[in-house]
Amino acid sequence: MSAADSNPQSAGGDSSIEDVDSIAMEATKRIEEAADLSELEALQREFLDKRSPLSQMKASMKDLDPDARKALGAAMNRARGSIENSVAQRRVTLEAQAFEVQLAAESLDLTEYLGRATLGHAHVITKTWERLEDVFCGMGFSVESGPEVETDWFNFEALNLPPSHPARSMWDTLYLDPSVIKGDDGADDEALGDGQLVLRTHTSPVQVRTMLRAVREGSGPPIYAVCPGRVYRRDTADATHLPVFHQIEGLVIDRGITMGDLAGTIESFVKAYFGSSMTSRLRPSYFPFTEPSAEFDISTPDGGWLEVGGCGMVHPNVLRAGGLDPREWSGFAFGFGIDRLAKIRYGINDLRSFMTNDIRFLNQF
Ligand code: PHE
Repeated sequence: MSAADSNPQSAGGDSSIEDVDSIAMEATKRIEEAADLSELEALQREFLDKRSPLSQMKASMKDLDPDARKALGAAMNRARGSIENSVAQRRVTLEAQAFEVQLAAESLDLTEYLGRATLGHAHVITKTWERLEDVFCGMGFSVESGPEVETDWFNFEALNLPPSHPARSMWDTLYLDPSVIKGDDGADDEALGDGQLVLRTHTSPVQVRTMLRAVREGSGPPIYAVCPGRVYRRDTADATHLPVFHQIEGLVIDRGITMGDLAGTIESFVKAYFGSSMTSRLRPSYFPFTEPSAEFDISTPDGGWLEVGGCGMVHPNVLRAGGLDPREWSGFAFGFGIDRLAKIRYGINDLRSFMTNDIRFLNQF
């Protein structure tokens, strides 16, 4: 008998209770066989909603005598309860199945990538930068930083290069329109004023920033600091120039620092970075912010010399700009290109290969 065939009119006697039981049995059987959730919902409506056989039988119960009504009512509650139970149980099973089906449909076969994916690594410039920090930290230096958008004052004036100083042409400078930078917090820019903004042409402005900060915070001198960072010049990229490149600046300020300390520090660094068989030499040179000034070279295996960077004793005017009394403090500074150093160390011909993202080049380091 199907639910639709049950006859609510016969409700009343034992036969009605039998009818209720058989409706419940049929419902349970069909619910257990429901193939999917939508079929289950249809069965739930068929057996439990207002037009279901049980609901209709209930409507006709009012004509029964109280005992029969009570007995039939109890049977109907049992039946409803067991149908609801069956629905709930079946739903759990069907939902789990539906989830499995969805997982299977959405899973991706990644086996074709197995063995192909290789782990990346840091860029050779980043590695060189970090190695330099390590070497200098090992020598007792701290690491400082400054902004890439710099004021004319920090980039030039405080470094003993007043406006229109002829040596400014040593740096092909990119100037910024200050109105574009409006809203910059400027918190650290003691001398921002109305001056020009530049993309820093070297890391040397961090010398003055470091001195001013040390004085302001009462943390020094003595100062033993390096500052690696990105710098900019109005240059066209070629094998030996990049318009955006990296430098590391060194600054030592203490009492009684001499040119001998500078030479010794450079020599220790060269041996620590390139190996104990390498050596360095200083050649007289000129920078407005150091006096005396020098270029430093490193030896090559074939007996030649390669220029690495500039250095010298910090000029008294620079110490004054940094808030220090040149009669009390002296120091040295040096600066060189990180990219250039990597070029030398790894024997790279063309600086532009650092920037072109050719994976065959990058993989080698
Ligand atoms: N800032 C100089 C440059 O970019 C290098 C330098 C740094 C020279 C420190 C002397 C002292 O060319």
